[in-house]
Amino acid sequence: MTFSTKLAFALTAIPAVFAATYNVQVGPNGKLVYDPEYVVAAPGDVVNFTFNPKNHTVTQSAFNTPCVPLPGGISSGFNPVTPGMNPLPTFQVHVTDNNPIWIHCEQVNHCPSGMVFAINPPTTGNTLDAFKQLALASNTSGSSIVAATYSPPPPPQWAVATATVTYANSVYTTTYTSYDGTPPPTPAAAPIDHKILVGNNGSLSYDPPSVQAAIGDTVTFEFRAKNHTVTQSTFNNPCVKFTDGQGNPGFSSGFQPVAAGATTFPTFQIKINDTAPIWGYCSQTGHCGAGMVFAINSVERGLNNFAAFQQLAKAINGTSPTAPPSSSSGSNGSGSSGNSDKNSATGGHASKAAMGFMVVIALAFGML
Ligand SMILES: *[C@@H]1O[C@H](CO)[C@@H](O)[C@H](O)[C@H]1NC(C)=O
Ligand SMILES: *[C@@H]1O[C@H](CO)[C@@H](O)[C@H](O)[C@H]1NC(C)=O
Ligand SMILES: *[C@@H]1O[C@H](CO)[C@@H](O)[C@H](O)[C@H]1NC(C)=O
Ligand SMILES: *[C@@H]1O[C@H](CO)[C@@H](O)[C@H](O)[C@H]1NC(C)=O
Ligand SMILES: *[C@@H]1O[C@H](CO)[C@@H](O)[C@H](O)[C@H]1NC(C)=O
Ligand SMILES: *[C@@H]1O[C@H](CO)[C@@H](O)[C@H](O)[C@H]1NC(C)=O
Ligand SMILES: *[C@@H]1O[C@H](CO)[C@@H](O)[C@H](O)[C@H]1NC(C)=O
Ligand SMILES: *[C@@H]1O[C@H](CO)[C@@H](O)[C@H](O)[C@H]1NC(C)=O
Repeated sequence: MTFSTKLAFALTAIPAVFAATYNVQVGPNGKLVYDPEYVVAAPGDVVNFTFNPKNHTVTQSAFNTPCVPLPGGISSGFNPVTPGMNPLPTFQVHVTDNNPIWIHCEQVNHCPSGMVFAINPPTTGNTLDAFKQLALASNTSGSSIVAATYSPPPPPQWAVATATVTYANSVYTTTYTSYDGTPPPTPAAAPIDHKILVGNNGSLSYDPPSVQAAIGDTVTFEFRAKNHTVTQSTFNNPCVKFTDGQGNPGFSSGFQPVAAGATTFPTFQIKINDTAPIWGYCSQTGHCGAGMVFAINSVERGLNNFAAFQQLAKAINGTSPTAPPSSSSGSNGSGSSGNSDKNSATGGHASKAAMGFMVVIALAFGML
């Protein structure tokens, strides 16, 4: 079964009561983009566009003609925004089915610059990347040139690739596209140690909760108070200890009690061996469900970002999420808690499907 079929199954399994709102920035920081550039939404969900400075639109088009308004389609009209305007104007699209909805900005030259967006883009065939290529190719003055350089859309979003990087006499094998958007497999010029404070000021949090680290870097957790752990998990099971396909456990610091008034603090260090996202939590009772989770190298511009991970941990209140019946009957392996972001190419697709599915659940529960 393909990823999109599984996702369709998962989507139809979610009751309408879990309606979610997806926030999308239009033209953030002056850039000609929608951020994120697509969302996966279920009937009943709302996509909330916020217009940033400049003068953009949210306008529906057909897949084949990305920069032409679809007659009778969704249209926000122009939203001129001056710098410093507050509040920013918004526009909502109410999703009524699982079909793709193609969106572009009507402002002169914005769509031909690639300012396009999609709700529920297919992962094969008419993908968002193909839509964007068509938008870029619609630049009439340069159309023959663009057409000549048109290339097929990149491989499916969840493809896994490996690369070998040599650094400081060591050879690292890295899984560098565990999903779209992971950083390139280049090591840092000089390894850096990233410090994360655990339970700083008595809070149930990691500070900072999300860091980006290069191959060869280290991450040092410093336990500041109470009795916490640093325990590896997976995106779709935020509060369950990670175990790989062979039954090998992920990293875990064990409990690190810190007495009140302590002036020296225990630490736990991990080394970054590849660019795949690393997810983790505190296994102390009630802490993960309170949102005490962290991420290293999460892909912030995708759906599997840190906020979605933390939302999922809170939504399930620290328990192990259970897959709905339609998911388990329709697929094999997607509900396993042992899948990691670093799985081999063969094992990877099921876990990616599960992650895509779980994030939908996460966002849905986040609205309760
Ligand atoms: C849309 O996003 C804005 C922030 O830009 C927020 O103030 C507003 O409440 C949101 N609207 C809905 C319907 O969620
Ligand atoms: C916004 O853009 C449209 C289309 O280019 C234009 O007609 C309109 O005057 C612009 N509005 C402002 C306030 O610049
Ligand atoms: C359109 O094509 C022309 C000629 O190739 C180029 O100069 C221009 O930058 C292109 N515009 C966009 C928005 O890509
Ligand atoms: C937390 O502790 C740090 C020092 O470790 C301090 O700089 C910061 O102000 C504290 N924050 C709060 C909210 O107390
Ligand atoms: C730390 O927490 C663990 C698990 O709850 C518990 O078994 C252990 O006794 C605690 N240690 C201290 C010193 O409180
Ligand atoms: C990186 O590799 C080392 C040596 O194989 C291992 O001890 C360490 O746990 C790995 N780091 C992570 C985050 O898996
Ligand atoms: C969440 O879990 C904690 C214990 O881990 C429990 O005390 C609390 O009542 C739970 N909250 C909800 C809303 O179920
Ligand atoms: C799932 O796959 C495993 C091994 O690949 C197989 O033994 C098992 O019967 C399958 N289960 C279902 C429900 O297809």
